[in-house]
Amino acid sequence: MKVLYSLIIFFTFLLIIPHALGGKRQEEMPGTVFETLLEKITSLQQQKESKYFFPFSWYKQKGLFESWIHLNMAGDELMKIIRDDVKFYDNNFFVTGWVVQILVETHRLQTVNVDSKVIEMALETLLKYSDQNHPDIPMISFWPQTKKDNIWYAYPQNLIDPMKESGGFLNMIRKFLTSLHLDGLWDKLKPIFEMVTMSEDAFNIPTDSDDTSINFALGASLYDAQKEFPDMFNLWNTGSNRNLHLAVKEIVKYSYQPLSKSLDDSILDPRSYLFMHDFLHTSAVNTPDFKLSATWLLNLTQDRQFFHKKLAMPFNVNNVDISVCSNFLYGVTHLATSNIVPLSSWLSEEVKQMIYNNVQYIQWVIKSGRVGERPDIGLTYYPPLYDFYWFASRTLSLLSTEGQNFPDPIFEKIFYILQDTFENEATPQLLNRGHTKGDYLFWDDFLGVNDTNISGKPINRAEDRLFTTSIVLNALIDTWSTRTSDYKYVWKQKTPQDVKKMIKMAANWITKEGIDDYKPENAFFSGSVKGGGTLPAYYPTNYIKYLNGTAPPPNPSMKYFTPELINAMKGIVDQDTYEKMLNEMHFGSETPRKQVPYNGKIPWPYWSSPALTYSVSLLGISKYEHLKD
Ligand SMILES: *[C@@H]1O[C@H](CO)[C@@H](O)[C@H](O)[C@H]1NC(C)=O
Ligand SMILES: *[C@@H]1O[C@H](CO)[C@@H](O)[C@H](O)[C@H]1NC(C)=O
Ligand SMILES: *[C@@H]1O[C@H](CO)[C@@H](O)[C@H](O)[C@H]1NC(C)=O
Ligand SMILES: *[C@@H]1O[C@H](CO)[C@@H](O)[C@H](O)[C@H]1NC(C)=O
Repeated sequence: MKVLYSLIIFFTFLLIIPHALGGKRQEEMPGTVFETLLEKITSLQQQKESKYFFPFSWYKQKGLFESWIHLNMAGDELMKIIRDDVKFYDNNFFVTGWVVQILVETHRLQTVNVDSKVIEMALETLLKYSDQNHPDIPMISFWPQTKKDNIWYAYPQNLIDPMKESGGFLNMIRKFLTSLHLDGLWDKLKPIFEMVTMSEDAFNIPTDSDDTSINFALGASLYDAQKEFPDMFNLWNTGSNRNLHLAVKEIVKYSYQPLSKSLDDSILDPRSYLFMHDFLHTSAVNTPDFKLSATWLLNLTQDRQFFHKKLAMPFNVNNVDISVCSNFLYGVTHLATSNIVPLSSWLSEEVKQMIYNNVQYIQWVIKSGRVGERPDIGLTYYPPLYDFYWFASRTLSLLSTEGQNFPDPIFEKIFYILQDTFENEATPQLLNRGHTKGDYLFWDDFLGVNDTNISGKPINRAEDRLFTTSIVLNALIDTWSTRTSDYKYVWKQKTPQDVKKMIKMAANWITKEGIDDYKPENAFFSGSVKGGGTLPAYYPTNYIKYLNGTAPPPNPSMKYFTPELINAMKGIVDQDTYEKMLNEMHFGSETPRKQVPYNGKIPWPYWSSPALTYSVSLLGISKYEHLKD
């Protein structure tokens, strides 16, 4: 929450200094559509380090692919301009970790030639994201780290330093908004601003299982591509990356284990709990060692210890995000299929249990339709609905490689669950949400879909259509194809004709319309709060204490919801009890029982990376190139 509030302030602040922050426009390149896309992607890679000099230049690390933090808001022209153009540059592991994997894969699909210098420059920076508090374990930080009082903590300079320079800008913001006749917006933001403790610890997040799992997949993809990129695996395979097995152990250590006796293991963000309560009753309640991957690689004991040293989980409690679970699954499956490290060094019974429970969870969120009902709290950090489908289908695709033996029976078991889920449930869900126009098929998520034009009439700006359609294309292809041992995609024999036709319509839309005519924006990532109803304060809890062990009074008001509060669900509660809890008030509010619309009244920050959009498009149409007849 602190992150959200601080970011809102930033954005508004940045707005006051209108300056040319926009990225360069790409020029049209001759050549195939694949080459054009590759050209666009590589032009978004930072060629040299740039230093922070606010407000004239951002800190940009050499080798990373661009990503920017924006503030989502919907409405008239002004809202659109703020959303699109008021943005700041972010250095993170996540985007570049994905783009590199995608480029390696696309090169192997032979639609483009990727220069190994591109990979090399990226890896040299990515290697610095390993947690320096644990120099032997590859636990990865989303943001670069810095050191104070002998502790390394995340330090996103472009977010933190502007705060230091900007003394009493709340008043400036108010005046500014009033001058634009946005008094209404100010009235809405004021309570939020008032709660902000303008301190940098909002950003001092621990390392996370998501980036750590992406690093597994990155290493495995480089290991598999040693023929194409002979030196890149060796470049990656240094330092802590040699101890992948230790990082798997850490992810298990910090997993969510609702039936554990230990408080550290068994408490959960109340939003994640509400999302999965029914699942816990069907699948966890009789499984004492049930485990799901949790996001942060920190436990409450450590949070209490390090909170004042700038190392803590947002809201001091861990959460479960289905996208993060899917990335964990892909990371460990890729470790297993590539055999980069011996299976016996990490695939313990505990890890198998966790793999299986994660797959059960993925199956449940899709089959029950739960993901479509409450993406706002189930997809904690990945607001787009579709990313999750693709992330999860990648594991299915990896296990569908022709002639491959399952590395262990656990992978055979999850293969059949994922296959059934994706062919029979996910496919119709995805296809039903698409829009057709003539011979084209495309998908929208939420960026710019609720705007109004100058006359105040609704207009769909479809700012994430290219990204979303590309993501869905990948998810469908990963469901309905197998990969041959020489890295070609072929249809599964049973693929229905209409599925083939729809995949073709989506690929055609991307190449003939999407790439040229649509924005490459996305909202690949966000904080956990995406508008008012997603504050954890409003959800039922049975563990509510400050870090020092004292508790707020009964039925507390919002002023008791401070950064030192732990507001969590412990264990699994029975149905009747939970139903009663749902009907109670929490910090003065009712439980949000329905999805909070992403384009609602309260703006919230999201990350967009055009480089990631173009990469996902390139990957999707490259796979399709093998399939088309
Ligand atoms: C929480 O982390 C601390 C420090 O690593 C560790 O001593 C403790 O055992 C952990 N708690 C659990 C339940 O693993
Ligand atoms: C706004 O949208 C409406 C309805 O689509 C349309 O009739 C009108 O011409 C648009 N106005 C402008 C200025 O584009
Ligand atoms: C514990 O922390 C809370 C919140 O920071 C504070 O209000 C309270 O006074 C503290 N209690 C003690 C005994 O220190
Ligand atoms: C867009 O507006 C429609 C109609 O008001 C609403 O139902 C929908 O939830 C909004 N979409 C988002 C993403 O907020």
